[in-house]
Amino acid sequence: MQMTQSTVGRKVLMAVTGLILLVFVLIHLLGNTSVFVGPDGINAYAEKLHSLGPMVWIFRLVMLAVFAAHIVFGIQLTLENRSASPLKYAQNKKLRASFSSETMIVSGLVLLAFVVYHLLHFTVQVIDPATAAKAHMDALGRPDVYLMVVSGFKSLFITLIYVVSMIFLFLHLSHGAGSFLQTFGLNSDKTLPTVSLGGKAVAAVLLVGYAAIPLFIIAGFLKI
Ligand code: HEM
Repeated sequence: MQMTQSTVGRKVLMAVTGLILLVFVLIHLLGNTSVFVGPDGINAYAEKLHSLGPMVWIFRLVMLAVFAAHIVFGIQLTLENRSASPLKYAQNKKLRASFSSETMIVSGLVLLAFVVYHLLHFTVQVIDPATAAKAHMDALGRPDVYLMVVSGFKSLFITLIYVVSMIFLFLHLSHGAGSFLQTFGLNSDKTLPTVSLGGKAVAAVLLVGYAAIPLFIIAGFLKI
């Protein structure tokens, strides 16, 4: 299939915005691991972030624009792929390619739903107002993010939402990292196995790291 200039442009934007989002989830995971230190870890970390004032809002607006662009171009590319891949191309390779792009749109939309839920849970704090960090200060007068996170994951339902969403994050990233390099022509038949293994390894680290937080909490390792 001949790619139009706008398709190439959209693929490049998908790759660049995807990379920015990947860096965000890696840094966010590092920050979140401070929950294992206890209230002095995650409450101090959250307070430091919020003390950056207007910078926090500039960062949020940039990330919102990046996220929105990634979603809009992703939907456009999926629709283009669908109209360019009718059943007459029923070759194995073609089927494999459209299977991955179908997986990407489904996992991507699940992640969008997760991010909306997650923002309502820990940023707007309306899912469980009784344990909202803004309503409880710790012994040092900081919003008690530790209490909010640990109380949240005492619920099996919420833990399941997070763990299942992290599996979708794994699926999305294990394909996305390889597509990124392909977009920039950085993989060849020789390097493809290593590249796709590398993508899966990064995705697996994120899955294990993120899922460990709710699982350790529901297993009773972190106490309020
Ligand atoms: C176990 C998994 C996770 C935990 C415990 C967690 C924890 C948190 C907490 C406590 C906040 C609020 C920070 C604050 O305002 O003080 C937050 C915000 C956020 N999280 Fe997560 N997070 C998790 C997974 C994720 C994932 C997988 C993503 C992305 C796919 C994500 C994206 C975000 C975003 C975009 C924000 C808003 C940042 C802001 O307010 O500027 N989180 N998270």
